[in-house]
Amino acid sequence: MGKISELPPGSSLEKRILARRVAVFNVDGELFGIESDCKHMKASLKKGKVEGLVVTCPWHSWKYNLKTGQCLTVDKFKLKTYQVEVENGDIFVKI
Ligand code: FES
Repeated sequence: MGKISELPPGSSLEKRILARRVAVFNVDGELFGIESDCKHMKASLKKGKVEGLVVTCPWHSWKYNLKTGQCLTVDKFKLKTYQVEVENGDIFVKI
């Protein structure tokens, strides 16, 4: 995904992996990997505002829990979440 040095607390990275966009958020030093396409109209959640463990979509403000992927705006939607590991400064996401 990138280098941990490029992802300080409060920031995020996004990459296309195979056919999907995946974002990694650094929340107070803890990393969360999540599908990046909002379930509403596919805006990139990388650009969303993060408060606690909740990211808000920049387009129409749907909210998601970064840890579970659960959409907090429309119950029936859930984003995939991914395990994130850091090895020798490199960020890896398990797809
Ligand atoms: S595209 Fe995310 S809320 Fe509309």
